[in-house]
Amino acid sequence: MTIESHLASLEALQTAALSELGTAEDDTAIENWRITYLGRKGRLTEVLRGLASLEPEARRTVGATSNQLKTLLEEQLAERLALLHDASMQGLASDQVDISLPGRPVDMGRYHPLTIVVREISQIFSSMGFQIAEGPEVEWDYFNFERMNIPKGHPARDQWDTLWVDSMQGQDGEYPMLLRTHTSPMQARVMDSTEPPVRVLVPGKCWRYEATDATHESQLFQVEGLVVDKGISFANLRHTLYKFARQMFGEDRKVRFRCDYFPFVEPGADMAVDCFICQGADLECKVCRGEGWIEIMGAGMVHPNVLRMSGYDPEVYSGFAFGMGAERIAMVKYGIDDIRLFYANDIRFLRQFP
Ligand code: FA5
Repeated sequence: MTIESHLASLEALQTAALSELGTAEDDTAIENWRITYLGRKGRLTEVLRGLASLEPEARRTVGATSNQLKTLLEEQLAERLALLHDASMQGLASDQVDISLPGRPVDMGRYHPLTIVVREISQIFSSMGFQIAEGPEVEWDYFNFERMNIPKGHPARDQWDTLWVDSMQGQDGEYPMLLRTHTSPMQARVMDSTEPPVRVLVPGKCWRYEATDATHESQLFQVEGLVVDKGISFANLRHTLYKFARQMFGEDRKVRFRCDYFPFVEPGADMAVDCFICQGADLECKVCRGEGWIEIMGAGMVHPNVLRMSGYDPEVYSGFAFGMGAERIAMVKYGIDDIRLFYANDIRFLRQFP
């Protein structure tokens, strides 16, 4: 090869190398380019190997040109790397990602106060040997009323203003359906499927078509209890409910037990707790209206008709039942003066419970 052809091939190499470098967009492409042109077995080394065939004078000239080209390519390589690095940093900046900022804390969820209270109620009764059961929220009129000793036309039906859903058409007539107004229909469902003795606790949602105020909601959470065995008496009912109240509210809370009427118990009672806001001193109190008591549950001895409808002989078995409002229990426990707060989804309210 002549000196001219050496110099020409160095020039061609420079053109090719610089144009290829201009298209290398990442670290891998640049490294491949470096190996191709400047590597130990690269194209520049190849040119230098051919110098041996030249005269000393020509060798010096081509050698010097090769070294200049090597320096040029190394400088261009460093420049290209710096350019790509700057571009990627600018990309991050224009995406407004500040990689030096600390991460955002994860907001931890909490249990709803009603969940906390229903779990606590369930725990207290579990420790007394009660089993926990659940039942349907959309219920037949038959279980909600008739099996609870409340036949059609009975005035007690008005006590549970009802949200009806579409009836089912059967061969022998219509079967009305509703959103259950209380958890008591589960008494019949449990007894239908179990032999005595029974000791069961049924937490669940209920609905009533009624105007809301500080102590009434149209959706409410009840916890039903049922105990049936030989020799169960009213004394067992009182003892169980007092024990529950002591554990739930502490020793100092006053509890009132008095007669009440429910068609599915005989005798019937209701239980109330002293008003945590006014203790009966304020006639305007929105929670107790000056009565000094907040009703938390209805209770009583299971009516013989209810036992009979499930095939239990009332001459042999007796039992007690109760149904408490979980919202009212939570109000007393946490000093909440308006039941509507439970369903308002205000995070400032919900955050306050442990
Ligand atoms: C009943 O629902 C009966 N099933 C309870 C019962 C069961 C009696 C077993 C005897 C034997 P009552 O309608 O009173 O009863 O409701 C029971 C409790 O649910 C009340 O004491 C109250 O704590 C709560 N409650 C009732 N209505 C509402 C309402 N609209 N909003 C919030 N809580 C309510």
